[in-house]
Amino acid sequence: MSEIKTVGVIGAGTMGNGIAHVFARSGFEVYLCEVEQRFLDRGLETIRVNLEREATKGKISPDDVDDALTRITGTLDRDALAECDFIVEAATERFEIKSEIFRDLDRIGRPEVILASNTSSISITKLAAQTGRPDRVIGMHFFNPVPVMKLVEVIRGLATAQAAYDTVRALAEKLDKTPVEVNDAPGFVSNRVLMPMLNEAMYTVMEGVATPAAVDEVFKLGMAHPMGPLTLADFIGLDVCLDIMRVLHDGFGDPKYRPCPLLIRMVDAGWLGRKSGRGFYHY
Ligand SMILES: NC(=O)c1ccc[n+]([C@@H]2O[C@H](COP(=O)([O-])OP(=O)(O)OC[C@H]3O[C@@H](n4cnc5c(N)ncnc54)[C@H](O)[C@@H]3O)[C@@H](O)[C@H]2O)c1
Repeated sequence: MSEIKTVGVIGAGTMGNGIAHVFARSGFEVYLCEVEQRFLDRGLETIRVNLEREATKGKISPDDVDDALTRITGTLDRDALAECDFIVEAATERFEIKSEIFRDLDRIGRPEVILASNTSSISITKLAAQTGRPDRVIGMHFFNPVPVMKLVEVIRGLATAQAAYDTVRALAEKLDKTPVEVNDAPGFVSNRVLMPMLNEAMYTVMEGVATPAAVDEVFKLGMAHPMGPLTLADFIGLDVCLDIMRVLHDGFGDPKYRPCPLLIRMVDAGWLGRKSGRGFYHY
């Protein structure tokens, strides 16, 4: 495996811009690919603001901000990623979108290039099967906000080769992250354990056991969680929580993963949490 110097990132949303940020900050050249100029502009602006915030806090120097920004090239042309030594996909969480991207990246990327996905819940094995290089497809699951959170779940699909795993593990360490090895299964470890807890917290609200604020207090004061489960659900996005519960429910076929009816109703109402101004709380 030749040295990785240039990295492609697909999607400049919440996660994609964070992933581009940390690669550029660690000295990699980055191609950041979007579908529309306005999404690309918004992603690049977020990176600039977040890098400047890091400089204000003294974590990096003002020169580091400029250097990192010059290392990022925004593009709407996926073929520009042909130059990349590694590509990570952070596009919208829909299998049809990601499967099209993986088929195309398989065409664009040199044969040895590893294709990673930041998916929260879609099967890495299924994405790998879209390509002619399933041994070089892997999950690289970052956490939000990417520049801050230390964890990267590195997910092996059924066919993922040891060499690909070793490369991604080493890459995560170069980004000053801590990789944790996980096999491909619905929700991996993080969301399989976290989401049912958030879902259960929603049931307690639906059944009138406690108010959202009371549930959150229990977790903050009793379990030393930095934020309660309903504040966290609003932060993640209630639509995202529902999608992940459905993946767990379908994937395991076990009724214990049944999405809370209150969650379904709130999503139907367009109450998606912080991003829509209303969820379990008003913003
Ligand atoms: N938000 C989180 O907390 C979080 C955490 C871990 C993992 N993830 C995963 O990261 C991925 C991205 O999530 P997000 O929260 O950043 O979503 P987002 O909606 O903020 O961003 C997704 C971006 O992908 C772009 N996109 C869609 N199709 C594309 C394509 N064909 N080519 C290039 N760009 C395309 C969209 O325009 C959008 O800007 C998802 O797979 C999600 O499950 C999200």
